[in-house]
Amino acid sequence: MEHHQNKTVSLTIDGFPVTVPSGTTILEAAKKINVNIPTLCQYHELCKPALCRLCVVECDGRGKLMAACATEVSEGVKVETNTFRILNIRKTILELLLANHPDECLSCVKNQNCELQKFAIIYGVRGSAYRHVGKPKPRKVSAETITLDMGKCVKCGRCAEVCQEYQKVGAINSAYRSNDYRISTPYARDLNDGPCVFCGKCVSVCPVGAVYHHDQSAEVRAELDRSEQYAAAQISPTAAQALAAAAGFPEGSITTGKIISALKTLGFKKVYDTDVFADLAIQEKARILAEHLKKKNKNPVITSCTPGWMNLLKNAYPDLIDNHPSCKNYVQTFNSVIRNQPGEAGTTPEKITTVSVTPCLAKKYGAKYTLIPAEFLQLLFTKGIEIRNQPESSFGIPEQKLPDTDQSFVSLKSALNAKNHEKFNEHEINFEGAKIKILVVNGIANARKIMDSIREGKCDAALVDVRYCGECGDRC
Ligand code: SF4
Ligand code: SF4
Ligand code: FES
Repeated sequence: MEHHQNKTVSLTIDGFPVTVPSGTTILEAAKKINVNIPTLCQYHELCKPALCRLCVVECDGRGKLMAACATEVSEGVKVETNTFRILNIRKTILELLLANHPDECLSCVKNQNCELQKFAIIYGVRGSAYRHVGKPKPRKVSAETITLDMGKCVKCGRCAEVCQEYQKVGAINSAYRSNDYRISTPYARDLNDGPCVFCGKCVSVCPVGAVYHHDQSAEVRAELDRSEQYAAAQISPTAAQALAAAAGFPEGSITTGKIISALKTLGFKKVYDTDVFADLAIQEKARILAEHLKKKNKNPVITSCTPGWMNLLKNAYPDLIDNHPSCKNYVQTFNSVIRNQPGEAGTTPEKITTVSVTPCLAKKYGAKYTLIPAEFLQLLFTKGIEIRNQPESSFGIPEQKLPDTDQSFVSLKSALNAKNHEKFNEHEINFEGAKIKILVVNGIANARKIMDSIREGKCDAALVDVRYCGECGDRC
Protein backbone atom coordinates (compact mmCIF):
# COMPACT_ATOMS: atom_id res chain seq x y z
CA MET A 1 0.00 0.00 0.00
CA GLU A 2 1.14 3.53 -0.69
CA HIS A 3 1.65 5.39 2.56
CA HIS A 4 0.91 9.11 2.70
CA GLN A 5 3.40 10.21 5.36
CA ASN A 6 1.88 13.68 5.85
CA LYS A 7 -1.57 12.46 6.79
CA THR A 8 -2.16 10.16 9.72
CA VAL A 9 -5.12 8.05 10.71
CA SER A 10 -6.08 7.01 14.27
CA LEU A 11 -8.06 3.86 14.98
CA THR A 12 -8.34 1.10 17.57
CA ILE A 13 -7.52 -2.54 17.06
CA ASP A 14 -8.89 -4.91 19.72
CA GLY A 15 -9.33 -1.83 21.90
CA PHE A 16 -5.71 -0.62 21.54
CA PRO A 17 -5.30 2.83 19.98
CA VAL A 18 -2.88 3.25 17.10
CA THR A 19 -1.98 6.10 14.75
CA VAL A 20 -0.45 5.32 11.36
CA PRO A 21 0.11 7.08 8.03
CA SER A 22 -2.96 6.98 5.81
CA GLY A 23 -2.66 4.23 3.19
CA THR A 24 -1.45 1.74 5.83
CA THR A 25 -3.29 -1.57 5.84
CA ILE A 26 -5.09 -2.84 8.95
CA LEU A 27 -2.56 -5.70 9.01
CA GLU A 28 0.40 -3.29 9.05
CA ALA A 29 -1.25 -1.15 11.73
CA ALA A 30 -1.88 -4.28 13.85
CA LYS A 31 1.77 -5.33 13.52
CA LYS A 32 2.83 -1.93 14.83
CA ILE A 33 1.11 -2.59 18.16
CA ASN A 34 1.94 -6.32 18.27
CA VAL A 35 -1.56 -7.57 17.50
CA ASN A 36 -1.15 -10.81 15.53
CA ILE A 37 -3.52 -11.40 12.64
CA PRO A 38 -2.97 -14.73 10.84
CA THR A 39 -2.01 -14.56 7.15
CA LEU A 40 -1.44 -17.23 4.54
CA CYS A 41 -1.40 -15.66 1.07
CA GLN A 42 0.22 -12.37 2.10
CA TYR A 43 4.03 -12.27 1.82
CA HIS A 44 6.41 -9.38 2.46
CA GLU A 45 7.30 -7.71 -0.82
CA LEU A 46 4.67 -9.40 -2.96
CA CYS A 47 1.41 -7.63 -3.71
CA LYS A 48 -1.64 -8.49 -1.64
CA PRO A 49 -3.95 -10.78 -3.57
CA ALA A 50 -6.34 -11.30 -0.60
CA LEU A 51 -7.00 -14.86 -1.67
CA CYS A 52 -7.01 -16.91 1.53
CA ARG A 53 -9.28 -14.69 3.73
CA LEU A 54 -7.59 -15.99 6.89
CA CYS A 55 -6.82 -12.43 7.91
CA VAL A 56 -10.48 -11.30 8.02
CA VAL A 57 -11.44 -8.76 10.71
CA GLU A 58 -14.60 -6.91 11.78
CA CYS A 59 -14.75 -3.14 11.28
CA ASP A 60 -17.19 -1.17 13.50
CA GLY A 61 -19.16 -4.38 14.09
CA ARG A 62 -20.39 -4.46 10.49
CA GLY A 63 -21.53 -7.79 9.06
CA LYS A 64 -19.11 -7.73 6.15
CA LEU A 65 -15.68 -9.02 7.14
CA MET A 66 -12.65 -7.30 5.65
CA ALA A 67 -9.29 -8.81 4.63
CA ALA A 68 -6.82 -7.02 6.93
CA CYS A 69 -3.98 -7.44 4.43
CA ALA A 70 -5.82 -5.56 1.69
CA THR A 71 -7.93 -3.01 3.58
CA GLU A 72 -6.58 0.43 4.36
CA VAL A 73 -7.16 1.99 7.78
CA SER A 74 -9.82 4.67 8.13
CA GLU A 75 -10.23 7.38 10.75
CA GLY A 76 -11.85 6.26 14.00
CA VAL A 77 -12.62 2.72 12.86
CA LYS A 78 -12.87 0.08 15.59
CA VAL A 79 -11.26 -3.13 14.38
CA GLU A 80 -11.83 -6.48 16.09
CA THR A 81 -9.49 -9.30 15.10
CA ASN A 82 -10.52 -12.17 17.34
CA THR A 83 -14.28 -12.35 17.89
CA PHE A 84 -15.95 -15.74 18.26
CA ARG A 85 -17.37 -15.37 14.75
CA ILE A 86 -13.95 -14.63 13.23
CA LEU A 87 -12.32 -17.56 15.00
CA ASN A 88 -15.01 -19.90 13.65
CA ILE A 89 -14.58 -18.55 10.13
CA ARG A 90 -10.82 -19.06 10.29
CA LYS A 91 -11.33 -22.60 11.54
CA THR A 92 -13.74 -23.33 8.66
CA ILE A 93 -11.27 -21.90 6.10
CA LEU A 94 -8.58 -24.19 7.50
CA GLU A 95 -10.92 -27.20 7.43
CA LEU A 96 -11.75 -26.48 3.79
CA LEU A 97 -8.04 -26.25 2.95
CA LEU A 98 -7.50 -29.57 4.67
CA ALA A 99 -10.51 -31.26 3.01
CA ASN A 100 -8.40 -32.93 0.34
CA HIS A 101 -4.98 -32.33 1.81
CA PRO A 102 -2.90 -35.54 1.89
CA ASP A 103 -2.22 -37.00 5.35
CA GLU A 104 1.52 -36.86 4.89
CA CYS A 105 2.67 -34.39 7.49
CA LEU A 106 5.27 -36.74 8.97
CA SER A 107 7.03 -37.28 5.66
CA CYS A 108 6.42 -33.80 4.22
CA VAL A 109 9.46 -31.58 3.57
CA LYS A 110 7.71 -28.78 5.44
CA ASN A 111 6.82 -30.77 8.56
CA GLN A 112 7.18 -28.49 11.61
CA ASN A 113 7.89 -25.58 9.32
CA CYS A 114 4.52 -25.44 7.56
CA GLU A 115 2.27 -22.40 7.89
CA LEU A 116 -0.92 -24.46 7.38
CA GLN A 117 0.15 -26.92 10.08
CA LYS A 118 0.92 -24.03 12.43
CA PHE A 119 -2.55 -22.51 12.00
CA ALA A 120 -4.28 -25.91 12.24
CA ILE A 121 -2.64 -26.31 15.65
CA ILE A 122 -3.43 -22.75 16.79
CA TYR A 123 -7.10 -22.98 15.75
CA GLY A 124 -7.56 -26.50 17.11
CA VAL A 125 -8.34 -28.14 13.76
CA ARG A 126 -8.20 -31.86 14.46
CA GLY A 127 -10.01 -33.06 11.34
CA SER A 128 -12.16 -31.64 8.58
CA ALA A 129 -15.94 -31.78 8.34
CA TYR A 130 -15.43 -31.47 4.57
CA ARG A 131 -13.00 -34.38 4.24
CA HIS A 132 -12.88 -35.72 0.68
CA VAL A 133 -15.68 -33.43 -0.51
CA GLY A 134 -14.80 -32.58 -4.12
CA LYS A 135 -12.39 -34.16 -6.58
CA PRO A 136 -8.92 -35.21 -5.45
CA LYS A 137 -6.29 -32.92 -6.94
CA PRO A 138 -3.69 -33.96 -9.49
CA ARG A 139 -0.44 -34.60 -7.65
CA LYS A 140 3.23 -34.17 -8.47
CA VAL A 141 5.03 -32.70 -11.45
CA SER A 142 8.80 -32.94 -11.10
CA ALA A 143 11.36 -30.89 -13.00
CA GLU A 144 15.14 -30.97 -12.77
CA THR A 145 15.48 -29.65 -9.22
CA ILE A 146 11.94 -28.59 -8.28
CA THR A 147 8.70 -30.50 -7.66
CA LEU A 148 5.18 -29.06 -7.73
CA ASP A 149 2.72 -31.06 -5.62
CA MET A 150 -0.73 -29.60 -6.18
CA GLY A 151 -2.21 -32.04 -3.65
CA LYS A 152 -0.75 -29.82 -0.94
CA CYS A 153 -1.39 -26.43 -2.54
CA VAL A 154 -3.42 -23.97 -0.46
CA LYS A 155 -4.03 -21.63 -3.43
CA CYS A 156 -2.22 -18.68 -1.93
CA GLY A 157 -0.75 -17.66 -5.29
CA ARG A 158 2.60 -16.65 -3.78
CA CYS A 159 4.70 -18.82 -6.12
CA ALA A 160 3.00 -17.54 -9.27
CA GLU A 161 3.28 -13.97 -8.03
CA VAL A 162 6.97 -14.23 -7.20
CA CYS A 163 7.77 -15.83 -10.57
CA GLN A 164 5.61 -13.43 -12.61
CA GLU A 165 5.96 -10.13 -10.84
CA TYR A 166 9.13 -10.27 -8.75
CA GLN A 167 11.44 -12.38 -10.94
CA LYS A 168 9.64 -11.45 -14.21
CA VAL A 169 10.29 -14.95 -15.52
CA GLY A 170 6.73 -16.17 -16.05
CA ALA A 171 7.57 -19.86 -15.82
CA ILE A 172 4.49 -20.63 -13.70
CA ASN A 173 1.09 -19.09 -13.14
CA SER A 174 -2.21 -20.02 -11.54
CA ALA A 175 -4.81 -21.68 -13.75
CA TYR A 176 -8.50 -22.60 -13.34
CA ARG A 177 -10.61 -21.80 -10.29
CA SER A 178 -12.03 -23.34 -7.14
CA ASN A 179 -11.25 -27.04 -6.77
CA ASP A 180 -9.52 -27.11 -10.16
CA TYR A 181 -7.10 -24.32 -9.14
CA ARG A 182 -3.56 -25.29 -9.88
CA ILE A 183 -0.17 -23.84 -10.54
CA SER A 184 0.73 -24.49 -14.13
CA THR A 185 3.37 -23.73 -16.70
CA PRO A 186 2.39 -21.97 -19.96
CA TYR A 187 0.50 -24.54 -22.11
CA ALA A 188 1.13 -27.09 -19.30
CA ARG A 189 4.59 -27.75 -20.73
CA ASP A 190 7.27 -29.39 -18.65
CA LEU A 191 8.95 -26.84 -16.33
CA ASN A 192 12.31 -27.86 -17.88
CA ASP A 193 11.09 -26.82 -21.33
CA GLY A 194 10.02 -23.29 -20.40
CA PRO A 195 11.84 -20.18 -19.19
CA CYS A 196 12.27 -21.39 -15.57
CA VAL A 197 15.72 -20.39 -14.33
CA PHE A 198 15.47 -22.69 -11.28
CA CYS A 199 16.12 -19.77 -8.96
CA GLY A 200 14.10 -21.42 -6.17
CA LYS A 201 12.16 -18.27 -5.26
CA CYS A 202 8.86 -20.19 -5.56
CA VAL A 203 10.27 -22.78 -3.13
CA SER A 204 11.16 -20.11 -0.59
CA VAL A 205 7.74 -18.46 -0.61
CA CYS A 206 5.45 -21.53 -0.58
CA PRO A 207 3.88 -21.68 2.89
CA VAL A 208 3.36 -25.45 2.68
CA GLY A 209 5.17 -28.37 1.03
CA ALA A 210 3.60 -27.84 -2.39
CA VAL A 211 6.73 -26.52 -4.13
CA TYR A 212 10.00 -27.96 -2.98
CA HIS A 213 13.56 -28.52 -4.13
CA HIS A 214 15.17 -31.92 -4.43
CA ASP A 215 16.94 -32.81 -1.23
CA GLN A 216 20.19 -34.59 -2.12
CA SER A 217 21.37 -35.41 1.40
CA ALA A 218 20.24 -39.07 1.24
CA GLU A 219 21.94 -39.56 -2.16
CA VAL A 220 25.18 -38.06 -0.84
CA ARG A 221 24.97 -40.29 2.26
CA ALA A 222 24.61 -43.33 -0.03
CA GLU A 223 27.63 -42.21 -2.09
CA LEU A 224 29.70 -41.84 1.07
CA ASP A 225 28.74 -45.37 2.12
CA ARG A 226 30.07 -46.87 -1.11
CA SER A 227 33.52 -48.05 -0.07
CA GLU A 228 34.91 -48.02 -3.63
CA GLN A 229 34.02 -44.32 -4.10
CA TYR A 230 36.51 -41.50 -3.50
CA ALA A 231 34.57 -38.46 -2.26
CA ALA A 232 35.73 -34.83 -2.39
CA ALA A 233 33.86 -31.72 -1.28
CA GLN A 234 34.19 -28.00 -1.79
CA ILE A 235 32.92 -25.29 0.51
CA SER A 236 33.24 -21.53 0.58
CA PRO A 237 34.96 -19.99 3.62
CA THR A 238 31.92 -17.74 4.04
CA ALA A 239 29.63 -20.77 4.26
CA ALA A 240 30.47 -20.97 7.98
CA GLN A 241 28.20 -17.99 8.56
CA ALA A 242 25.31 -19.50 6.57
CA LEU A 243 25.73 -22.83 8.36
CA ALA A 244 25.75 -21.20 11.80
CA ALA A 245 22.54 -19.34 10.89
CA ALA A 246 20.86 -22.52 9.54
CA ALA A 247 21.85 -24.47 12.66
CA GLY A 248 20.72 -21.70 14.99
CA PHE A 249 24.26 -21.33 16.44
CA PRO A 250 25.54 -17.90 17.48
CA GLU A 251 27.50 -16.10 14.77
CA GLY A 252 31.19 -17.02 14.85
CA SER A 253 30.62 -20.24 16.82
CA ILE A 254 31.78 -22.44 13.96
CA THR A 255 34.87 -21.96 11.83
CA THR A 256 35.78 -23.08 8.34
CA GLY A 257 38.41 -25.39 9.92
CA LYS A 258 35.72 -27.19 11.96
CA ILE A 259 33.48 -27.56 8.91
CA ILE A 260 36.38 -29.10 6.96
CA SER A 261 36.88 -31.63 9.80
CA ALA A 262 33.15 -32.38 9.90
CA LEU A 263 33.19 -33.11 6.15
CA LYS A 264 36.20 -35.40 6.62
CA THR A 265 34.47 -37.19 9.51
CA LEU A 266 31.54 -37.75 7.16
CA GLY A 267 33.89 -39.59 4.81
CA PHE A 268 35.19 -36.98 2.36
CA LYS A 269 38.85 -37.66 1.60
CA LYS A 270 39.61 -34.07 0.63
CA VAL A 271 37.87 -30.75 1.13
CA TYR A 272 38.66 -27.82 -1.16
CA ASP A 273 38.13 -24.09 -1.01
CA THR A 274 35.40 -22.86 -3.38
CA ASP A 275 37.42 -19.68 -4.03
CA VAL A 276 39.96 -21.71 -6.03
CA PHE A 277 37.28 -22.97 -8.46
CA ALA A 278 35.60 -19.57 -8.59
CA ASP A 279 38.96 -18.16 -9.75
CA LEU A 280 39.25 -20.87 -12.40
CA ALA A 281 35.70 -20.05 -13.57
CA ILE A 282 36.68 -16.37 -13.85
CA GLN A 283 39.77 -17.36 -15.80
CA GLU A 284 37.46 -19.05 -18.29
CA LYS A 285 35.31 -15.91 -18.49
CA ALA A 286 38.48 -13.85 -19.10
CA ARG A 287 39.43 -16.15 -21.99
CA ILE A 288 35.93 -15.86 -23.49
CA LEU A 289 35.93 -12.08 -23.07
CA ALA A 290 39.34 -11.76 -24.77
CA GLU A 291 38.08 -13.79 -27.75
CA HIS A 292 34.88 -11.77 -27.87
CA LEU A 293 36.77 -8.47 -27.91
CA LYS A 294 38.95 -9.69 -30.78
CA LYS A 295 35.82 -10.33 -32.85
CA LYS A 296 34.73 -6.71 -32.30
CA ASN A 297 31.14 -7.85 -31.71
CA LYS A 298 29.05 -4.78 -30.81
CA ASN A 299 26.91 -6.62 -28.25
CA PRO A 300 28.38 -7.59 -24.88
CA VAL A 301 29.23 -11.10 -23.93
CA ILE A 302 26.61 -12.36 -21.44
CA THR A 303 27.62 -14.65 -18.59
CA SER A 304 25.86 -16.05 -15.54
CA CYS A 305 27.06 -18.22 -12.70
CA THR A 306 23.91 -20.31 -12.90
CA PRO A 307 23.14 -22.51 -15.89
CA GLY A 308 19.35 -22.12 -15.55
CA TRP A 309 19.75 -18.61 -16.99
CA MET A 310 20.12 -20.23 -20.42
CA ASN A 311 16.46 -21.36 -20.24
CA LEU A 312 15.24 -17.78 -20.01
CA LEU A 313 17.52 -16.65 -22.83
CA LYS A 314 16.34 -19.49 -25.08
CA ASN A 315 12.70 -18.64 -24.45
CA ALA A 316 12.68 -14.87 -24.24
CA TYR A 317 15.88 -13.72 -26.01
CA PRO A 318 16.77 -16.37 -28.60
CA ASP A 319 18.45 -13.64 -30.69
CA LEU A 320 21.01 -13.11 -27.88
CA ILE A 321 22.01 -16.75 -27.42
CA ASP A 322 25.17 -16.37 -29.48
CA ASN A 323 26.34 -13.77 -26.95
CA HIS A 324 26.03 -16.27 -24.11
CA PRO A 325 28.89 -18.75 -24.45
CA SER A 326 28.68 -21.79 -22.22
CA CYS A 327 31.09 -21.25 -19.36
CA LYS A 328 31.23 -23.30 -16.19
CA ASN A 329 30.37 -21.91 -12.77
CA TYR A 330 32.44 -22.83 -9.70
CA VAL A 331 30.37 -25.96 -8.98
CA GLN A 332 30.81 -27.31 -12.51
CA THR A 333 34.49 -26.27 -12.56
CA PHE A 334 35.08 -28.15 -9.30
CA ASN A 335 33.33 -31.27 -10.61
CA SER A 336 35.36 -31.31 -13.80
CA VAL A 337 38.75 -30.45 -12.22
CA ILE A 338 38.55 -32.98 -9.38
CA ARG A 339 37.15 -35.80 -11.48
CA ASN A 340 39.99 -35.37 -13.94
CA GLN A 341 42.90 -34.97 -11.52
CA PRO A 342 45.24 -37.74 -12.66
CA GLY A 343 46.66 -38.30 -9.19
CA GLU A 344 43.35 -38.12 -7.27
CA ALA A 345 43.29 -41.43 -5.40
CA GLY A 346 44.67 -43.08 -8.54
CA THR A 347 41.13 -43.66 -9.66
CA THR A 348 38.89 -43.04 -12.67
CA PRO A 349 36.41 -40.11 -12.95
CA GLU A 350 33.36 -42.32 -12.38
CA LYS A 351 34.81 -43.51 -9.05
CA ILE A 352 35.04 -39.91 -7.80
CA THR A 353 32.03 -38.30 -6.11
CA THR A 354 32.12 -34.52 -5.91
CA VAL A 355 29.86 -32.56 -3.56
CA SER A 356 29.53 -28.78 -3.29
CA VAL A 357 28.18 -27.14 -0.15
CA THR A 358 26.73 -23.76 -1.06
CA PRO A 359 24.06 -21.40 0.26
CA CYS A 360 22.67 -20.97 -3.28
CA LEU A 361 19.67 -23.17 -4.13
CA ALA A 362 19.96 -22.26 -7.81
CA LYS A 363 23.31 -24.06 -8.04
CA LYS A 364 21.48 -27.38 -7.78
CA TYR A 365 20.44 -26.98 -11.38
CA GLY A 366 22.83 -28.70 -13.75
CA ALA A 367 25.09 -30.13 -11.03
CA LYS A 368 24.65 -33.54 -9.51
CA TYR A 369 25.53 -33.22 -5.84
CA THR A 370 24.95 -29.81 -4.34
CA LEU A 371 23.98 -29.42 -0.70
CA ILE A 372 22.47 -26.29 0.77
CA PRO A 373 23.28 -25.69 4.48
CA ALA A 374 20.09 -27.39 5.75
CA GLU A 375 20.88 -30.58 3.80
CA PHE A 376 24.49 -30.59 5.00
CA LEU A 377 23.35 -30.20 8.61
CA GLN A 378 20.85 -33.03 8.14
CA LEU A 379 23.67 -35.25 6.90
CA LEU A 380 25.77 -34.39 9.96
CA PHE A 381 22.83 -34.98 12.25
CA THR A 382 22.08 -38.46 10.88
CA LYS A 383 25.73 -39.39 11.42
CA GLY A 384 25.77 -37.87 14.92
CA ILE A 385 28.47 -35.32 14.07
CA GLU A 386 28.53 -32.06 16.05
CA ILE A 387 30.48 -29.39 14.13
CA ARG A 388 31.37 -27.40 17.24
CA ASN A 389 33.30 -30.39 18.67
CA GLN A 390 35.43 -30.86 15.57
CA PRO A 391 39.15 -29.95 15.49
CA GLU A 392 40.47 -27.32 13.06
CA SER A 393 41.62 -28.61 9.62
CA SER A 394 42.77 -26.97 6.45
CA PHE A 395 41.73 -27.12 2.80
CA GLY A 396 43.33 -29.47 0.28
CA ILE A 397 45.23 -28.03 -2.70
CA PRO A 398 44.04 -29.18 -6.14
CA GLU A 399 46.60 -30.36 -8.68
CA GLN A 400 45.16 -28.00 -11.29
CA LYS A 401 47.40 -25.04 -12.19
CA LEU A 402 45.84 -21.92 -10.70
CA PRO A 403 45.13 -18.86 -12.88
CA ASP A 404 48.03 -16.53 -13.70
CA THR A 405 47.55 -13.38 -11.75
CA ASP A 406 48.02 -11.11 -14.75
CA GLN A 407 46.51 -7.64 -14.55
CA SER A 408 43.56 -8.40 -16.88
CA PHE A 409 42.49 -11.40 -14.79
CA VAL A 410 42.89 -9.47 -11.52
CA SER A 411 40.81 -6.54 -12.84
CA LEU A 412 38.03 -8.80 -14.11
CA LYS A 413 38.04 -10.76 -10.85
CA SER A 414 37.77 -7.64 -8.71
CA ALA A 415 34.82 -6.42 -10.82
CA LEU A 416 32.98 -9.75 -10.74
CA ASN A 417 33.64 -10.40 -7.05
CA ALA A 418 32.83 -6.90 -5.80
CA LYS A 419 30.37 -7.28 -2.94
CA ASN A 420 27.66 -4.91 -4.01
CA HIS A 421 23.97 -5.41 -3.72
CA GLU A 422 22.88 -2.68 -6.11
CA LYS A 423 20.67 -3.71 -9.02
CA PHE A 424 23.24 -2.61 -11.59
CA ASN A 425 26.96 -2.37 -10.81
CA GLU A 426 29.22 -0.84 -13.44
CA HIS A 427 32.99 -1.29 -13.33
CA GLU A 428 35.52 0.19 -15.71
CA ILE A 429 38.56 -2.06 -15.97
CA ASN A 430 41.80 -2.35 -17.91
CA PHE A 431 41.62 -5.52 -19.90
CA GLU A 432 44.25 -6.63 -22.42
CA GLY A 433 45.40 -3.07 -22.90
CA ALA A 434 41.96 -1.52 -23.38
CA LYS A 435 39.53 0.21 -21.03
CA ILE A 436 36.25 -1.71 -20.99
CA LYS A 437 33.02 -1.69 -19.02
CA ILE A 438 31.79 -4.67 -16.97
CA LEU A 439 28.18 -4.67 -15.82
CA VAL A 440 27.15 -6.95 -12.94
CA VAL A 441 23.36 -7.24 -12.62
CA ASN A 442 21.63 -8.53 -9.50
CA GLY A 443 18.22 -10.16 -9.97
CA ILE A 444 16.48 -11.74 -12.91
CA ALA A 445 13.98 -8.90 -13.38
CA ASN A 446 16.87 -6.41 -13.59
CA ALA A 447 18.76 -8.71 -15.94
CA ARG A 448 15.74 -8.66 -18.26
CA LYS A 449 15.97 -4.85 -18.40
CA ILE A 450 19.58 -5.16 -19.53
CA MET A 451 18.71 -7.83 -22.12
CA ASP A 452 16.09 -5.41 -23.51
CA SER A 453 18.67 -2.63 -23.63
CA ILE A 454 21.16 -4.92 -25.46
CA ARG A 455 18.46 -5.64 -28.00
CA GLU A 456 17.90 -1.92 -28.49
CA GLY A 457 21.66 -1.41 -28.93
CA LYS A 458 21.81 0.73 -25.78
CA CYS A 459 24.23 -1.33 -23.66
CA ASP A 460 27.87 -0.28 -23.98
CA ALA A 461 29.34 -2.88 -21.57
CA ALA A 462 31.80 -5.46 -22.91
CA LEU A 463 30.57 -8.11 -20.47
CA VAL A 464 27.26 -8.43 -18.62
CA ASP A 465 27.32 -10.86 -15.70
CA VAL A 466 23.92 -11.94 -14.36
CA ARG A 467 23.56 -12.87 -10.70
CA TYR A 468 20.27 -14.34 -9.60
CA CYS A 469 19.71 -12.41 -6.42
CA GLY A 470 22.82 -10.61 -5.23
CA GLU A 471 21.81 -11.54 -1.70
CA CYS A 472 24.78 -13.77 -0.95
CA GLY A 473 27.17 -10.90 -1.71
CA ASP A 474 29.83 -13.52 -2.22
CA ARG A 475 29.66 -16.37 -4.70
CA CYS A 476 26.60 -16.40 -6.87
S1 SF4 B 1 12.32 -21.59 -9.88
FE1 SF4 B 1 12.22 -19.36 -10.22
S2 SF4 B 1 11.86 -19.20 -12.41
FE2 SF4 B 1 11.35 -21.32 -11.89
S3 SF4 B 1 9.17 -21.34 -11.45
FE3 SF4 B 1 10.20 -20.98 -9.49
S4 SF4 B 1 10.27 -18.72 -9.27
FE4 SF4 B 1 9.82 -19.20 -11.45
S1 SF4 C 1 2.10 -24.06 -4.69
FE1 SF4 C 1 2.52 -23.17 -2.65
S2 SF4 C 1 3.00 -21.01 -3.08
FE2 SF4 C 1 2.03 -21.84 -4.94
S3 SF4 C 1 -0.15 -21.34 -4.72
FE3 SF4 C 1 0.12 -23.42 -3.90
S4 SF4 C 1 0.51 -23.15 -1.71
FE4 SF4 C 1 0.77 -21.14 -2.66
S1 FES D 1 -3.52 -12.98 4.17
FE1 FES D 1 -5.15 -11.62 3.78
S2 FES D 1 -6.41 -12.66 2.43
FE2 FES D 1 -4.71 -14.04 2.70
